[in-house]
Amino acid sequence: MGEYSGKAEIKKRIEELRELIHYHNYRYYVLNEPEISDAEYDRLFRELEELESKYPEFITPDSPTQRVGAKPLEEFGTYEHSIPMLSLNSVTEEHEVWEFDERVRRALGEEEIEYVLEPKIDGLAMELVYRDGVLVVGSTRGDGRVGEDVTQNLKTIRSIPLRLMKERLPLLEVRGEVYMPVSKFKELNRELGMRGERMFANPRNAAAGSVRQLDPRVTASRPLDFFAYGIGRADGREFRTQWEILNYLKEVGFRVSPLVRLFRSIKEVIECHDEIEKIRDELDYEIDGVVVKVNSIEQQNRLGTISRSPRWAIAYKFAPREEFTKVKDIVVQVGRTGALTPVAILEPVQIGGVTVSRATLHNEDELKRKDVRIGDTVVVERAGDVIPEIVSVVKSKRTGAEKEFRMPDRCPVCGAEVLKEGPIRRCIGVACPAQLKERIKHFASQRAMDIEGLGEKVIEQLVDRDMVSDPADLYFLSMRDLLKLDRMGEKLAQKILDAIDKSRHTTFGRLIYALGIRHVGEHTASLLASHFKNMDELRNATYDELVSIPEIGPEVARSIILFFEHESTDRLLRKLEDAGVRYEPAEEGEKTLAGKTFVFTGRISIPREEAKMLVEQLGGRVSSSVSKKTDYVVAGEDPGSKLAKAQQLGVKIIDEDEFMALTGRK
Ligand code: IVH
Repeated sequence: MGEYSGKAEIKKRIEELRELIHYHNYRYYVLNEPEISDAEYDRLFRELEELESKYPEFITPDSPTQRVGAKPLEEFGTYEHSIPMLSLNSVTEEHEVWEFDERVRRALGEEEIEYVLEPKIDGLAMELVYRDGVLVVGSTRGDGRVGEDVTQNLKTIRSIPLRLMKERLPLLEVRGEVYMPVSKFKELNRELGMRGERMFANPRNAAAGSVRQLDPRVTASRPLDFFAYGIGRADGREFRTQWEILNYLKEVGFRVSPLVRLFRSIKEVIECHDEIEKIRDELDYEIDGVVVKVNSIEQQNRLGTISRSPRWAIAYKFAPREEFTKVKDIVVQVGRTGALTPVAILEPVQIGGVTVSRATLHNEDELKRKDVRIGDTVVVERAGDVIPEIVSVVKSKRTGAEKEFRMPDRCPVCGAEVLKEGPIRRCIGVACPAQLKERIKHFASQRAMDIEGLGEKVIEQLVDRDMVSDPADLYFLSMRDLLKLDRMGEKLAQKILDAIDKSRHTTFGRLIYALGIRHVGEHTASLLASHFKNMDELRNATYDELVSIPEIGPEVARSIILFFEHESTDRLLRKLEDAGVRYEPAEEGEKTLAGKTFVFTGRISIPREEAKMLVEQLGGRVSSSVSKKTDYVVAGEDPGSKLAKAQQLGVKIIDEDEFMALTGRK
């Protein structure tokens, strides 16, 4: 290292790099406002890694390189909390919240009371112990008194500071929740399913499974995140209120939920709970209610605790999204790629206002692991737009009459042979009507070619009567053809024909998506559309070219190549062209919203997905939370708390009409 004259200088550079990396890490993972590019960050990180490997004597436990350094453990040690981690009494009814307020008022006399409202994050409670500002222990809540020492695993979570910013108290215990973002959970489950590994029933289980990994390298690969909401011991610092604590936590480098609020009356607390319940599906993390805390610490102390729950706080939960029901049957669905998916047919139950009558069992391995049998009583969960899941089987309710289910060796639809690819069984029938039906349904769906009126029943008949053998055949259907179908009148037939005709003019992104290439969803399709001029270019793209596009990985690239290698693809594309299907290229010049970030709140008259697509087609981005980086907040009817946040940050707020005008729809 010729650049450095002595060890002292090397040590100095190492310290400097650490500071820089800590700072940029904070900008990126906590504030979501990076100041440098990923490449620059990587360069700093590599420089530090190199110096530390040459001079290991300068490695410290709080170095950013130590997030994933540790070896697998045999088992977790235990950790005793210096102050027990309490649990919360929970209520679900509004009157119970009024009663809580009354109890608090009675105990405190005629004093003013303020309440802090926080979202109740559905993850796992953790305690992080910082000595002189450095993270020394991270542990689970356990039974409240003793938890498991999962320090190595928590260190891999980027939004958990290894070293605090600003003040470094001799001792600070930070409490909060580790969780897995919903979007990341879906991705993880998809990957696990493909690899034949155990999938998780919900983001909470995924977070728990990831934190309790003996190998920290596995935890490091899992997308976990952390919100801080409280403190245990804090030596050398007194806090007057919970609100002050939350602000302090932000100051020293933690993420605190942007939904936290301070209120003067319980009525406002209840209103806010109702508002947050409305927008819960828009958040990228699961919350199962709100936590209401008396703000003043002195009042909290006077109220005290009773049987391990504080009298100064409650959890006001949302309507449950889990229900018990019975499995009436297990059937097999054949998807558009031929994959056989076992599906549980359930006795219909209402979950959060929606009737659930089916739940996916994903694949054979999952079915076996969960050991779901026909006749079983099960716990079903519906979370946001995640497909309903069977969380567990209530084995104690078994009578012995339950029937096990075996996956068929032949396709239940076309009778062709079924091949096993890892955990997935796939029908190899080239003319399998189930695959064709699914492909056509996908092709015609709203977000693909958007052929209105061409519903499931019509598609099924068209396939069953051999009237279409690929999606392009739709464009050659006549009035006479359609009138042969059951329950088809001239009016509906005309509507369908018009919709088919209208779909001849589409966008490049929609057409790519409509083709149903494996692993190419809407987002990837629009990436491809803006990267390639036309279908020919895309068809001729090489593997290297594809993987050089950001966000396109090896698996997706391989799948695209395979798709275009297939001779039936050529035929289909030619037929679509003959049918007069034309698309507008995604022109650079049209990217009028390039670099702009939008956040939606409240109801607007077009579906969210459509609004999102509009923005993305014009080069913009849609985010689920408001920050200083947000350019526009589109406020519809009954806007949620994002509106207040936007006002607070001075972000431009527009209504639906203005949004439509911006996107050129008006
Ligand atoms: S406070 C009084 N605040 O809910 C101290 N807990 O039953 C009790 N949780 O184990 C915890 N979000 O896992 C608190 N903003 C929040 C929370 C929260 C989620 C969880 C935590 C705890 C359980 C309480």
